[in-house]
Amino acid sequence: MAVIRDIRKDDMPDILEISKNVWGGHDYLPRHINDWLKDPDCHTFGTEVDGKLIAIANLRVIDGGNTAWFEGLRVHPNHREQGYANRLTDHLVEVSHDIGVERVRYTTAKDNVESLALAKRIGLEKILEMYVFWKGDLLELDWSYSEREVLQVSPRDVQELLEENVFEFLHPVIIHDWKAWEFTDQSLQDLGQKCCYYLSREKDAVTGLSVGGIRKEADSDQWSFTVYATNEEAFLSHLSFHLDLACDQQFDAVMCIAESAFESTIESLPWFTDDIHGTRIILFNKEL
Ligand SMILES: CC(C)(COP(=O)(O)OP(=O)(O)OC[C@H]1O[C@@H](n2cnc3c(N)ncnc32)[C@H](O)[C@@H]1OP(=O)(O)O)[C@@H](O)C(=O)NCCC(=O)NCCS
Repeated sequence: MAVIRDIRKDDMPDILEISKNVWGGHDYLPRHINDWLKDPDCHTFGTEVDGKLIAIANLRVIDGGNTAWFEGLRVHPNHREQGYANRLTDHLVEVSHDIGVERVRYTTAKDNVESLALAKRIGLEKILEMYVFWKGDLLELDWSYSEREVLQVSPRDVQELLEENVFEFLHPVIIHDWKAWEFTDQSLQDLGQKCCYYLSREKDAVTGLSVGGIRKEADSDQWSFTVYATNEEAFLSHLSFHLDLACDQQFDAVMCIAESAFESTIESLPWFTDDIHGTRIILFNKEL
């Protein structure tokens, strides 16, 4: 019989077994699970079948208690296509109602057919699409672009600019590291605890905003950043800035999220070779 229950510390061997075959053995989940179990905003559930954990998913409450963020859904390969992900996702939705959040959200890759089916089933709607790519071997990269000066700014600076309505070019959320943050004072502060903000200007106008921080991948840490820009010069200046920043901090790889409008700009860069993985990510939302 299948039972959905809270995840416990002693589930670790089963979690490793589930993760072992996800994304060619490079699943980030084992490096995050202990943080989730300690975090009062995380509700981590699993499905137990015959005494063995065969599925896992995390619900993280963000945006000052307004959003239930779904992440880390995994089903053991031997138990897939039997409805376990559907049932665990239904459970997360029920818990979201019980907690009293306003909305449910998650991001997924555009080519993850199972995730897309899950979103459709529980009535999530696409609210935006962005482009993501990963680039390794940074030390061998010989490219720079600095048409616009990019400067680090504090969360407070960004909050003040937000009040002045200078970010009209931005979505109502900031995407960072596959997560979405409401573009509010509270979320900017929360995100600013883990990341840094960077700004470019042209005369008095803000032409770009980027946010960068450390991403815990399966085997190592990466520099993860998102760039929003009003034009190609500003976009490339932020991109180049973050590639340098990653090198300076001794990271060998980056994950960059950008507006889809810059996908062709990125893919035509001299160092963007066929072996670089790029895809679209979709943010799904449902108001409860
Ligand atoms: C994604 C994942 C959790 C799905 O688990 P699952 O238990 O096989 O899913 P379910 O059987 O509950 O099916 C969920 C939906 O996906 C669809 N689906 C499942 N496997 C599918 C496949 N191979 N191809 C197409 N659709 C598929 C099902 O039809 C179902 O949709 P429906 O209700 O409209 O019919 C599992 O494949 C997995 O762990 N993948 C690796 C990690 C991952 O991608 N996680 C999600 C993003 S974080």
